[in-house]
Amino acid sequence: MENNNNSTDEERIINAQETNGDKVLDLSLRPKKLDEYIGQNKIKENLSIFIQAAQKRGEPIEHVLLYGSPGLGKTTLAHVISNELGSNIRVTSGPAIEKSGDLAAILTNLSEGDILFIDEIHRLNKNIEEILYPAMEDYALDIIIGIDLPRFTIIGATTKISSLSAPLRDRFGATYHLNFYEHNDIEKIINRSAKILSVGIEDEPIKEIAARSRFTPRVANRLLKRVRDYSEVKGDGRINNNLCQAAFDMLEIDELGLDWIDRKILETIIDKFGGGPVGLNTIAAATGEDMATVEDVYEPYLMRLAFLDRGPRGRIVTDIGHKHLGRKKKGQSKIL
Ligand code: ADE
Repeated sequence: MENNNNSTDEERIINAQETNGDKVLDLSLRPKKLDEYIGQNKIKENLSIFIQAAQKRGEPIEHVLLYGSPGLGKTTLAHVISNELGSNIRVTSGPAIEKSGDLAAILTNLSEGDILFIDEIHRLNKNIEEILYPAMEDYALDIIIGIDLPRFTIIGATTKISSLSAPLRDRFGATYHLNFYEHNDIEKIINRSAKILSVGIEDEPIKEIAARSRFTPRVANRLLKRVRDYSEVKGDGRINNNLCQAAFDMLEIDELGLDWIDRKILETIIDKFGGGPVGLNTIAAATGEDMATVEDVYEPYLMRLAFLDRGPRGRIVTDIGHKHLGRKKKGQSKIL
């Protein structure tokens, strides 16, 4: 498909990073309790015991670390934990805590049993991390001598567990790794969201949206919203298969959730570099994207689908990657 779309990454609707639109959407769609939360069954089971045991002992829960790709529900789960405990939750993020005074202000305002949610905790700077160690371990704030902090719980979230220092990692009592969702769990999430949004939707479009969601609830919910918009404008608001297909044609999202930039990357490697191997910097230059964006935003999903492979000499579009685009590998004629 030809690229005739100028959307930036910010606007890519299949991008799993959170946008402002998601924040509004998440407020209504976010499950509040563990039994409303779909998928991640092993984590739910563990968390349920973890929470009940702490409640039985009359203690705050130990610090919890949640890690996994963007859009899988780390923030949602932190709120669920706080609701299950009936405790207050204070939300901040690694990059938002710039000075030691920022952290001191947050910590001294907490009450017994409160939860402090720190998103992107891997982006905390080193000196802030060091204030956090005694606060997590002994409820002590060493920069203000003689201040005892209430017993509180930190829930940290990260997409990059390897960027977390070992001493910080060690201070969490429990660590949970959120996985990509099963297809049928994504279907259940779409069904639930449609009910909350009062959108009529048939079974087939639920499957079609799920197939394009990249196994990620945030993407599924965003696609549902876009298809709903289309169905309200072009139809009577109820989502049927025809409207759903037409909406995805307009959005240029194919049946596996690839958008035009994903396809451009694969096509560039095939057309200009014989399918690879080709270096990341060359791909970035040829597609007009920056290297980190290609590596962190586009490649993970293409590799998860096994359309793209990373070899010692660079990136290669695999046989099934060629097949998905209707291409034959180098030396073979193009499929018509
Ligand atoms: N909305 C987003 N993620 C969800 C989940 N895991 N369960 C239910 N609804 C959701």
